Amino acid sequence: MRGNIAIDGPAGAGKSTVARLLAARLGYLYIDTGAMYRALTWKALRQGIKLHDNERLVKLAQETAIRLEDRGARGIAVYCDGEEVTAAIRQTNVSRHVSLVASVPEVRQRLVKLQREMATSNRVVMDGRDIGTWVLPGAPYKFFLTASLEERARRRHRELLDAGQPVELKKIKEEIRRRDALDSGREVAPLKPAPDAIIINTDQMTATEVVARLLTLIDP
Ligand code: CDP
Repeated sequence: MRGNIAIDGPAGAGKSTVARLLAARLGYLYIDTGAMYRALTWKALRQGIKLHDNERLVKLAQETAIRLEDRGARGIAVYCDGEEVTAAIRQTNVSRHVSLVASVPEVRQRLVKLQREMATSNRVVMDGRDIGTWVLPGAPYKFFLTASLEERARRRHRELLDAGQPVELKKIKEEIRRRDALDSGREVAPLKPAPDAIIINTDQMTATEVVARLLTLIDP
């Protein structure tokens, strides 16, 4: 059976690489929901909005146009009000604050609506924190990718180095630990596997190996 694929998991578990490769392989649209929360956070920071001002954040979410452009194997381009922010949203300052913005229920409501709309006209591979539990609970395939904190921090460290943004490994580990706690502990749509999700520990696996594994589960 073919149908939408939900991939959830904590920061650095390899979701986006795997989701992108899997979508390209299946000819599905890849939707990186984290990029949407990041784009909004990027705009809030640029406008100097106080990130504890929920009312202001909700208004911002309502007046902001966020668009994802799937460029196949080259990944996703992210636009915020027409401006390309693909690289800007990966900066540490955005990573540090995104969970706060993502914890506001009405902000989530607005972005989830957009995410569901994208999934109605396309077959999608969607990655995030609440895809299997909340955004697409009816998706026939749900995966939850995990890995140890050490391994996830190492992966993120390498990614940032490759992007020309060297950050101390220790700092990355602390940031990921903090973000995981915020994402798992929030009241609305916390990070957790759906009851029917298949949990995969990717510690000893490359992204290609994970994709191969998912393909056997999707199309046996
Ligand atoms: O790529 P990384 O794992 O660092 O995170 P991301 O997928 O870009 O998501 C960034 C942040 O957005 C997460 O830490 C969550 O706070 C939030 N997020 C969320 O709340 N719900 C989602 N569906 C996706 C992301």
